[in-house]
Amino acid sequence: MSLVLAINGQRFELELSSVDPSTTLLEFLRYQTPFKSVKLSCGEGGCGACVVLLSRYDPILKNVEDFTASSCLTLLCSVNHCSITTSEGLGNSRDGFHSIHNRFTGFHASQCGFCTPGMSVSLFSALLDSTKSSSQEFTVLEAEKAVSGNLCRCTGYRPIIDACKSFASNVDIEDLGFNSFCKKGDSLPRFDSEKRVCTFPEFLKDEIKCIGFGSYKWCSPESVEELQSLLGACKANSDDVVSVKLVAGNTSTGYYKDEKERSYDKYVDLTRIAEMREVRERHDRVEIGAVVTISKVIAALKEMRLSKMLFGKLAAHMEKIAARFIRNIGSIGGNLIMAQRQHFPSDMATILVAAGASINIMSLSRGIEKVTLEEFLQGPPLDAYDLVLSIEIPFWHHEHSSSGTNSELLFETYRAAPRPQGSALAYLNAAFLAEVKDTKVIINCRLAFGAFGTKHAIRCKEVEEFLSGKVITDNVLYEAITLLGKIVRPQDGTSNLAYRSSLAPGFLFKFLHSLKTEKQPSSHLDQPMLSSSQRVLIDKEFYPVGEAATKSGASLQASGEAVYVDDIPAPTNCLYGAFIYSTKPFAKIKGMRFKENSVPDGVVGVISCKDVPKSGNNVGFKFSSFTEPLFADEFTLHVGQCIGLVVADTQRHADSAATLAVVDYETDGLEPPILSVDEAVKKSSLFEVYPFLYPQQVGDTSKGMSEADHRILSSEIRIGSQYFFYMETQTALAVPDEDNSIVVYSSCQIPQYVHSTVAASLGIPENKVRIITRRVGGGFGGKAVRSMPVATACAVAANKLQRPVRTYVNRKTDMIMTGGRHPMKITYSVGFKSTGKITALELEILIDAGATLGLSMLMPSNIIGALKKYNWGALSFDIKLCKTNLLSKAIMRAPGDVQGTYIAEAIIENVASSLSLEVDTIRKINLHTYESLALFYKDAAGEPHEYTLSSMWDKMGVSSKFEERVSTVRDFNGSNIWRKRGISRVPIIYPVSMFATPGRVSVLSDGTIVVEVGGIELGQGLWTKVKQMAGYTLGLLQCDGTEELVDKIRVVQSDTLSMVQGNFTGGSTTSEGSCAAVRLCCETLVKRLKPLIEKSGGPISWNNLISQAYAQSVNLSASDLYTPGETPTRYLNYGVAVSEVEVDLVTGKTTVLQTDILYDSGKSLNPAVDLGQIEGAFVQGLGFFMLEEYITDSEGRLLTDSTWTYKIPTVDTIPRQFNVEILNSGCHEKRVLSSKASGEPPLLLAASVHCATREAVKEARKQLRIWKGEDGPSLMFQLPVPASMPVVKELCGLDIVESYLDWKSQVNSSF
Ligand SMILES: Cc1cc2nc3c(=O)[nH]c(=O)nc-3n(C[C@H](O)[C@H](O)[C@H](O)COP(=O)(O)OP(=O)(O)OC[C@H]3O[C@@H](n4cnc5c(N)ncnc54)[C@H](O)[C@@H]3O)c2cc1C
Ligand code: FES
Ligand code: FES
Repeated sequence: MSLVLAINGQRFELELSSVDPSTTLLEFLRYQTPFKSVKLSCGEGGCGACVVLLSRYDPILKNVEDFTASSCLTLLCSVNHCSITTSEGLGNSRDGFHSIHNRFTGFHASQCGFCTPGMSVSLFSALLDSTKSSSQEFTVLEAEKAVSGNLCRCTGYRPIIDACKSFASNVDIEDLGFNSFCKKGDSLPRFDSEKRVCTFPEFLKDEIKCIGFGSYKWCSPESVEELQSLLGACKANSDDVVSVKLVAGNTSTGYYKDEKERSYDKYVDLTRIAEMREVRERHDRVEIGAVVTISKVIAALKEMRLSKMLFGKLAAHMEKIAARFIRNIGSIGGNLIMAQRQHFPSDMATILVAAGASINIMSLSRGIEKVTLEEFLQGPPLDAYDLVLSIEIPFWHHEHSSSGTNSELLFETYRAAPRPQGSALAYLNAAFLAEVKDTKVIINCRLAFGAFGTKHAIRCKEVEEFLSGKVITDNVLYEAITLLGKIVRPQDGTSNLAYRSSLAPGFLFKFLHSLKTEKQPSSHLDQPMLSSSQRVLIDKEFYPVGEAATKSGASLQASGEAVYVDDIPAPTNCLYGAFIYSTKPFAKIKGMRFKENSVPDGVVGVISCKDVPKSGNNVGFKFSSFTEPLFADEFTLHVGQCIGLVVADTQRHADSAATLAVVDYETDGLEPPILSVDEAVKKSSLFEVYPFLYPQQVGDTSKGMSEADHRILSSEIRIGSQYFFYMETQTALAVPDEDNSIVVYSSCQIPQYVHSTVAASLGIPENKVRIITRRVGGGFGGKAVRSMPVATACAVAANKLQRPVRTYVNRKTDMIMTGGRHPMKITYSVGFKSTGKITALELEILIDAGATLGLSMLMPSNIIGALKKYNWGALSFDIKLCKTNLLSKAIMRAPGDVQGTYIAEAIIENVASSLSLEVDTIRKINLHTYESLALFYKDAAGEPHEYTLSSMWDKMGVSSKFEERVSTVRDFNGSNIWRKRGISRVPIIYPVSMFATPGRVSVLSDGTIVVEVGGIELGQGLWTKVKQMAGYTLGLLQCDGTEELVDKIRVVQSDTLSMVQGNFTGGSTTSEGSCAAVRLCCETLVKRLKPLIEKSGGPISWNNLISQAYAQSVNLSASDLYTPGETPTRYLNYGVAVSEVEVDLVTGKTTVLQTDILYDSGKSLNPAVDLGQIEGAFVQGLGFFMLEEYITDSEGRLLTDSTWTYKIPTVDTIPRQFNVEILNSGCHEKRVLSSKASGEPPLLLAASVHCATREAVKEARKQLRIWKGEDGPSLMFQLPVPASMPVVKELCGLDIVESYLDWKSQVNSSF
């Protein structure tokens, strides 16, 4: 029996008996077909990198159904007779790219490109759906939703949404963002369904047949009877236990990941059973087959003729479950079983409990039974052989209601989750159904709550009873809420316990209060549509430098043909590695073994420090004279430390074996680990900071303090970490080569140092090591130091086993081993005048560097560099790099600088609060003059005309209508109780340094050009700028055809034997440095070629010139090393942002209504690239300031180690109105063609969102002070980072609803 499927129109046939039924579609596509556009990023349904279009043909209806699915969760066997279309199936470099690929390119919507194939398929599916809809229209609203649930860590989403919107029928071309297609006024062609890709090839239609259930491990019964007999046979076999797994969409394995690894004797596919796939409308209810997907349930509910309101609201809530590519395969029954059996925090269960749903269960012993959903949830876990057949939801019309016709049915659902549009589990969800008489009297109601740290969704019957027959008054509300508080109580150990508890009264209040006021006073803001504007100046002076050229290779990235390390075909005999890491902060390693002392499937060996060759050293990081161990030797120094690499025949076997590894530890007799910076200081466990890296104090703070009118003394701030969340996790492939040499393909930012680390570990000369890096799927600093142990471990394993070894670190391991930003504790004292002018700032900063130093020595100067953005009068500090038994911290985009900015803003806010002055006034008064700037930044301040910040501050005030909006916000806050707004304007200064960078430019005989640079393409557009620079400099030859030179240029992968001294890619200046190096090379070529032009006496074409040069043996390859030389290596970058936010006081949700950015890029080398960097960095900063909770336990074990718990920004969390202007600040003689950096500085501008949120919270607290009087909260408060929903709500008052009602009752009684 065969499994037949089509992939991009190509037929694939597999013998069913040879397929492991637990194989996912992604594994098959990536490892057994040439199609690599499907990317693995999370493996748990949380990112969309693996999205494919699945098409099924119905031979009876003769129609094709197309929908997206996450291939990392879909089982291969379940797609028998299906057709799969991946991004390269839409279009590619050979057959021509699809218009979607071209739009992603033209809208500058692909940076590292790792997310782009998944985005392209999601968009394609949405467009396809629109062609099948009755209106045949693809609207702007649909465009916004097309990719919700797909994560991108680089772009900040705005250009992606614009690319999607460009297909919308109702888009105004003027509203589309910066793109390379058309001048304003033109229009872009719409999606043409006629030319659409054939998603289901004809040949497959003829092959569709049942594969039955014979003796295979995978069975697909077609009827309930077949299923019953199959299960009966399995159960009867109880002596020889047959483990059975019932499979619908298999998406539950995204959450219960152990399930992925488990192997069953039988996999029973339920999705082919007709009875379970139907939605049937009965006279008093709708019956939904258990395997109906959530998407289809939504569609069916929207079509219902009866109970329209209720079904419409159920459908709207279901649209917030997961992402579309999960809802398309995840079934309603699967969801409820997860809720019942494993206590999954389901939305489905809660809303269906409120809607009065019941369930039909079939068990082998008891036959078919119907129970209410509540009974089902409360019952014992469903037996593995029991089946949920269908779910019934009653029609709630008047036959159901208990009173006469003047009653009305109300239904509402609620959820509080980190992402408004879904793709995030709820902190709490709720649904309320009420029958109401005379608009105010509750006849009866059903109140359901779930996901708050309860085993399953519950009904609050006591409150329901209390409310029935009541007229809703403030007192009734108060009593109902008090009663509720006693019932909705999360289990001990639930995260954000108090916050979750506080949501229930909030939601009930919202619901009931609407009865009282006949309108929803606290209805949360409907997510406004996204819009944006971009202003850039295209400068032709150095053409093609300065052009908004599209990103080099963007179409290849979109089609998925761009090759990342894990896309390189596996060499013969390749093995796969997975890391075993420490789970103890400080312990002696006694030994390592596998569970049950048996070697897991496919394992070839475990590589540890013992396998480092005798001639080599156990080093996993080497930078100058600093080294760090590769594998823990005798002791582990922190949780997450690498102990070994288990090597197996497949990546899945290696990953699975790593989870089965048991390390025996001993802690007896050891000093307790150091787990905080305070302990580190107490024990003098500190890293030395070299004096030349230690920043300099400014002025005399004792004097400054004595001049102050006011002082705030020893105030404390704590800042946590942030994880990189590059979409491509750490990966390397090591291939042993002849003569004891080795080639390592590494996804890294600093190949030069990976090179020396590999050589040192193997004990071989550096000329026997070659590191190749073509492109990196996002780095953000995480692939600097942290890529080294990955590459080195593969190299050590390959050397030991003399076979190629590759590893693609899974997301969880990556999160645990890579770490992120440096947490720190800051204590400060600040002195200031009554005007708000600050006279002195003294700081003590304790940085948690972790167990090893890494590049942490850069932190002190970075923190202070950004913090000096204000004129503090005098500044002194004591900064300690603490050595703890916690994960070593890495340098993440804007390392230290972002913390420095936050510290500065927290101090400014504190000063403003203590003087009761506007924060904006305090910021303005403490902005630098050029003189104070020069005092604080010395040479880096540059010339007076280069200091643009103070004029930018004013310009931004005007362009963002700051003052006007401040007063609008004030009015809004005056007239709204449950929503508060805040607005903030924040400046940044960001020093960067230039580094030595090499380049080589070679011209080939056909006139094409190859460029090599030290910098790595991480998505930041380095290759694009380099191409433009080569085009510009060679263009100075002014021969015919030089205008098109850019098209002849190819930038090739970095190869450490070809291009030495590559240095590192980081610090925002590598693009500039690489451009400068290429410019030097091109100038050399120009010098060599000029005499030929002069000799030719007349115009000569480029190709002719090159032919002559070849004939005359002119050296057409030039290499050079750019060194910053006499120009100051450091310069300052400036930006200003204004953000306006709205906070929902019931949930703590913050919506960024608008952000305006003004950023000085000097003369931008490529405004499109710089715009992308600005927006992308800002949104990453938004994640740091507002969303990303990096939580560890007291010993440093990461608790937020997956896409389920670690929430980076999504489309629905970015500013709804996002305006960016790039300031062209003219000539900067000492910069590379007057350019400035854009990669990291704009990240700091996201502080404006945090500051605006603090303003909104302050308004909430002012209001609470009125309600609570003396017991109210202080207005001197600090808003922590990230200002997540629980944090914001806590500061706004967890008991805000109770306080309001309390106050109302007092006010009423005083009349
Ligand atoms: C990334 C992601 C985000 C999510 N977010 C949310 C969310 O916000 N809110 C929410 O409510 N849910 C959420 N979910 C859960 C999602 O709704 C479920 O994973 C999905 O509905 C399960 O359906 P399935 O068909 O894939 O089930 P499967 O994974 O196939 O099955 C789940 C379990 O039920 C068993 N089973 C399946 N069908 C039957 C049946 N008919 N009879 C007996 N046993 C059966 C299976 O053996 C398995 O044990 C999310 C899921 C993912 C992956
Ligand atoms: S890899 Fe499949 S959703 Fe992330
Ligand atoms: S471009 Fe989206 S993750 Fe890099």
